[in-house]
Amino acid sequence: MADRLSDFVTYERVDGVAVIRTDNPPVNALGADVRAGIVAGMERFDADPDAAIALIHCDGRTFHAGADIKEFGTKRADPQIWTLCDRIEAATKPVVATLHGTALGGGLEVAIAAHWRIAQRDAKVGLPEVHLGVIPAAGATQRAPRLMGAARALEAITTGRHIPAPEARDLGLIDELDDSGDALAAGLAYARRLAAEGKGVRRTGEMPVPDATPELFAEWRERAVKTGRGLNAVLYCVEAVEGCLLPFEEGLRHETAVSDKSHADPQRDAMVHAFFGERAVAKIPEASAAPRRLETVGVVGGGTMGAGIAAAALNAGLKVVMVEMDAEALARGEANLRRNFASSVAKGRMSQQALDELLATRWTGAADFAALSDVDLVVEAVFEKMSVKKEVFAKLDAVVREGAVLATNTSYLDVNEIAAVTRRPQDVLGLHFFSPAHVMRLLEVVVGAKTLPEVVATGFALARRMGKIAVRAGVCDGFIGNRILGAYLKAADMMVEDGASPYEVDAAVRGFGYPMGPFQMGDLAGLDIGYLNRRGKDETRDPGERYSEGFLDRMYENGWLGQKTGIGFYDYAGGARSGPPNPQVLPMIEAERRRLGINARSFTREEILRRYIAAMTNEAAKVVGEGIALRPLDVDMTAIAGYGYPRWRGGPMHHADTVGLAKILSDLQEFAQEDPGFWAPAPLLERLVAEGRSFADLNAPAAG
Ligand code: COA
Repeated sequence: MADRLSDFVTYERVDGVAVIRTDNPPVNALGADVRAGIVAGMERFDADPDAAIALIHCDGRTFHAGADIKEFGTKRADPQIWTLCDRIEAATKPVVATLHGTALGGGLEVAIAAHWRIAQRDAKVGLPEVHLGVIPAAGATQRAPRLMGAARALEAITTGRHIPAPEARDLGLIDELDDSGDALAAGLAYARRLAAEGKGVRRTGEMPVPDATPELFAEWRERAVKTGRGLNAVLYCVEAVEGCLLPFEEGLRHETAVSDKSHADPQRDAMVHAFFGERAVAKIPEASAAPRRLETVGVVGGGTMGAGIAAAALNAGLKVVMVEMDAEALARGEANLRRNFASSVAKGRMSQQALDELLATRWTGAADFAALSDVDLVVEAVFEKMSVKKEVFAKLDAVVREGAVLATNTSYLDVNEIAAVTRRPQDVLGLHFFSPAHVMRLLEVVVGAKTLPEVVATGFALARRMGKIAVRAGVCDGFIGNRILGAYLKAADMMVEDGASPYEVDAAVRGFGYPMGPFQMGDLAGLDIGYLNRRGKDETRDPGERYSEGFLDRMYENGWLGQKTGIGFYDYAGGARSGPPNPQVLPMIEAERRRLGINARSFTREEILRRYIAAMTNEAAKVVGEGIALRPLDVDMTAIAGYGYPRWRGGPMHHADTVGLAKILSDLQEFAQEDPGFWAPAPLLERLVAEGRSFADLNAPAAG
């Protein structure tokens, strides 16, 4: 009979082995109760004359997957996790950990404080704290280098990657592998064997570090600045591991100091917000609906987008039917599809033969819509024009079986209007993929007025299978992401017209943490796209609205379309992906200002960002206020997963909370004196400021 040590932890002696066992679903997080239970277990074991060796084990799907992240930012009750790890290591009789599932963060910290480790072969281990903006603590930055060497520990800790158990064994983190699938039985057998062989206490803290030199850390600090892209935790990780140049006890104290610094950094809250936000976006009103069958996906169109969607579906193990207009277009579609796998083949992740086989068995190409008759879900990825989309949907309605999901990949158009041409608007939704669709993580699931819950649930199920982050969006021009993008691009255009250079704007935006600025992005996407979009809106544009895109029209007229023409805002001579500014752009913009009678003024970097952020926050507040996004966190995850927003700032709405909504509102009011139409504050923002509330207050889970 097992004795209960705490709510989640029990103690039982099995043939001389003291089994300290945790059952804290879903992931056996090391919350206060679990820590207290294991410490009590260690006390009991040390005093138990009938126990020669102890085994730390978890029930359920995984060994401890980490500290309880929900405790971050709260005053954690004693015992702390470092007390727990030190207590395990200090045991006077040997302690074994038996790992299965994902032994991450605190889980691996506990395991490497134990004296011996066995893992299921399919287990993964890792120290992913960097992804939460903090460092692995509890001695891991000092113990890991002793087991695997400082250079390898730096790699593992700064990337936070999940390491497969066989590799972890080769690295020295794990001693034994087991294939049985029964971590408890394997752990018991291993513990008995160790006891029989007289293997005793083996404290990691007493081992030497084979390869720590000051030069190694200097090199990694430099590397961390580059790979971190503004994420401080990467630097904190290097700083913490550097403590292994000191004696173990001093190294532990050094680690604690760096850990405290990382926990005090506002980036931690942003990263934790992103971690929970990525999971919370799936909590939608339709979450309880059962998704429909999803085995075969139809894709209409084999262009960049269609081929990307097809590749994503194939990678997710689905069958794909691609339809194009004629045999020639289909051949291009297949070539586009193959190109999407080219780098996997080149890098040896997939053989040419495996690719040929994949396409032969799970991909069908056709030049006739009839081939789609039996698919479970079809995504249309044709030219972005309402009349074209309607034509496609009318055809789909005629051939695709009843009960299939019909999706449009439109990035702006009215999903309800598209659905209305079918006899089954309840089965229609928007699935807005981002290019390249087999790489980008975001999927906007656009819910029409008549879309059934199970159809929405099927869109989310597709995203899950593809490993994407799905965000639920309502119907409006541009949905969540492109609508907000439109607002901050407009702010950027206005600043350029008023006197900022596109290069100053790009530099400021990069300085904020984006991988590229808006004009670099325009060059990448092709400046013809925006041009055609503007022409499409000429007739409906409010005549009172400021038109600040004249200089962008000149770019188009000059044929400076960006990377595709080798010249845009930047010069891509020789096919380079980046380059110096195009020297003709600034004179062209000056001429444009003269034509408009604008006296150029200068903008500081701070002012550029103030306007960029105010425009972004304001539009985001409208998107939430109108119910297009369910919660502010849905906007945040959209921006991070699809628009290059720096994760360590948590997303535009999280960031706005840290700036202070009252401050942003007063910026908007100031800018509105120049242009009340564009800068009018969103009603939601005004309301929150009046009530003294924040966007975070609106992030309560949606009904699921
Ligand atoms: N603390 C608190 N809650 C946690 C947690 C942790 N360390 N790890 C996971 N959870 C929660 C999730 O929020 C989710 O809750 P929900 O069902 O209410 O949304 C639930 O546990 C299941 O997690 P999920 O990520 O959906 O399951 P999964 O099987 O896809 O992945 C993990 C499992 C362990 C790989 C993944 O959850 C993970 O990476 N966790 C964080 C690990 C980590 O960073 N540990 C270091 C902390 S110091």
